Amino acid sequence: MRIFLTTALASVLLLLAPMQATAAADEDGYDLWLRYKPLEHSAQTRLKAQAGSIVLTGKPSPTTQVAIDELQKGLAGMLGRAPAQAAKVADNALVLATAASLPELRAELATLGDEGYLLRRTRLQGHNVTLIAANSDVGLLYGSYAWLRAAAIGAAPEASSAPQLKLRVLNHWDNLDRHVERGYAGQSIWDWWALPDIKDRRYTDYARANASLGINGTVLNNVNSKPEVLTAPYIAKAAAVADVLRPYGIKVYLSARFSTPLELRETDTADPLSPAVQAWWKNKADEIYKAIPDFGGFLVKANSEGQPGPQDYHRNHADGANMLAAAVAPHKGIVMWRAFVYAHGTEKSTDRAKQAWDEFKPLDGTFAPNVLVQVKNGAIDFQPREPFHPLFGAMPKTPLMMEFQITKEYLGFSTDLAYLGTMFEETLKSDTKTAPQGRTVTQTLSGIAGVSNIGSDRNWTGSHFDQANWYAYGRMAWNPQASARAVAAEWAAQTFSPDPRVVAPVVEMMMSSRETVVDYMTPLGLHHMMGTSHHHGPAPWVDNLERPDWNPVYYHRAGRDGIGFDRTASGSNALAQYAPEIARQYADPRTTPEQLLLWFHHLPWDYQMPSGRTLWAELLGRYDKGVAETRELHARWMTLKPLIDARRHAEVEQRLTRQIDNAVLWRDACIAYFQSVSGLPLPPGVKAPPLPLEKYKALQYPYAPGRG
Ligand code: GCU
Repeated sequence: MRIFLTTALASVLLLLAPMQATAAADEDGYDLWLRYKPLEHSAQTRLKAQAGSIVLTGKPSPTTQVAIDELQKGLAGMLGRAPAQAAKVADNALVLATAASLPELRAELATLGDEGYLLRRTRLQGHNVTLIAANSDVGLLYGSYAWLRAAAIGAAPEASSAPQLKLRVLNHWDNLDRHVERGYAGQSIWDWWALPDIKDRRYTDYARANASLGINGTVLNNVNSKPEVLTAPYIAKAAAVADVLRPYGIKVYLSARFSTPLELRETDTADPLSPAVQAWWKNKADEIYKAIPDFGGFLVKANSEGQPGPQDYHRNHADGANMLAAAVAPHKGIVMWRAFVYAHGTEKSTDRAKQAWDEFKPLDGTFAPNVLVQVKNGAIDFQPREPFHPLFGAMPKTPLMMEFQITKEYLGFSTDLAYLGTMFEETLKSDTKTAPQGRTVTQTLSGIAGVSNIGSDRNWTGSHFDQANWYAYGRMAWNPQASARAVAAEWAAQTFSPDPRVVAPVVEMMMSSRETVVDYMTPLGLHHMMGTSHHHGPAPWVDNLERPDWNPVYYHRAGRDGIGFDRTASGSNALAQYAPEIARQYADPRTTPEQLLLWFHHLPWDYQMPSGRTLWAELLGRYDKGVAETRELHARWMTLKPLIDARRHAEVEQRLTRQIDNAVLWRDACIAYFQSVSGLPLPPGVKAPPLPLEKYKALQYPYAPGRG
């Protein structure tokens, strides 16, 4: 018996031994995509031959030091040993060189601008080397990250790369008390109370992660800003953050409240044409630049959702923006002025989707040169799907910025998996048809902003998969032509494993995930059906809020006769804000993309869809499809269990399980509601919601995170 047991135990151990040797160690996600895990033997040999030593040919700077530190850290992780820094170029050296020391490459480098880089195997000073070359130190830093990224995933590095958009910023909606508006990953990473004396190590890792993507600016505080942020103590705190971020090529910006001087009682008005107000802002800018010489400038939300602005003084957006622009211009600062406006007093407008265009289009050409108008990707508010904003292409004389939301306010917080790369791609590649040969949304842009999903959670974003949205935003800000699929593959390989058995299924999960959320929340162009104020869960029935355009019923307009918002000439005519070719195409439901159908049209329930089903049956089918797909996401993830460390696998699994419940809730509540208004029976095969509508209506989420 004893012999039997021992033999049995031995064989169990034998079975376990190889598994233990290969089972990935638990990870908490803190390292993001910069994990630099040991490569397999042949890849190590190849890499060693490309980086025997690290040589900097030019003058060292804090930025080149960051590049060298990162190369050493990365190589130490991937090879087990970091190459030493050497003074002289030798065979197999990894050489960082700026144009000054590379006369033969000067012409080529000249095409890459201030931030671009080139990577190549070449001969230098008689030696075979790996060259990272750029026009600036920050270009060398970006090149180093690109080279490390390629090494980590076993890809050939890009030969050269330069960003298409000069301004690539994150917008933190972080309050000074560390609450993050629409944040689902803990508190703000900026510990305003402890600053400026205590600088969390996280700030440095934040800078590393952002620099690895090429993000070159960050707005530290919420667009719903407080006057205090522009007082001396907070300027000192922002300066401390700026000091940490500077070597990484990241500038600090602040959101400014338009009425700051008035609220601080330092002027008796905030009228932008008042000389006292203008002088106040000029002095304030001078004060800020004394503390932060490379301060980026201001981001402003004005005359929107109750925020103060120039219209309070019967001035327009350009009057307000230009006044601030004049204050920062001597310091080369900029003003990012948001076009997300729906001010009080304009409630009677026929369609909130039209307001930004109505207010801004007439101002084209009147903004100062250092003002950028920052436009949300769609005309309502970061919904799971929106058509591109009609302002893109409509203001040719004004530099425009894209504003994407990385945090998933309307796509399941940090619980549901929704990879936003596909959404960014869809918007950026949309043709605005504002030029005869076509003009994509990207071609109308001078900058890009992403509302951050970063918080104090150990894994930064609340869920591991939400790291991919930060990553995709940064990579697509650098290269708006990048494919969402390629970016997803890069991210998955660095974040989980370059093993194709991991990358392929993870990419498939990511690529379909946002459409899945659209299907179980707002299919076929529906929008704005979420719960009031916290924005969690379904609430298509809400009809009693103060402003008509805060109510879901305003947007879906479902009744006995049908569903959808008529934005054609017979309705609000928001379509007329688009280029004529688009307006013509979308005027007819038959030629409107199905995914935007109910955004532009109010249609009867028995409208025949291309699938052969009625609109009613199609809508129900979409909800069921969304739910089924969340189950598939979960099942697919379960097949990856042997290939992903237990901790991260379990953490993702918990969220995917919760996502199924969330999808079921959306499906059941929306079907119950729409059936109550359509009065139609459920077609065969469609399961009736298990609860009466009143039960769904009664659900409350008093402690949902991220409230405004
Ligand atoms: C949304 C969001 C608010 C935010 C606003 C904005 O409406 O719910 O929290 O302040 O957008 O972009 O300004």
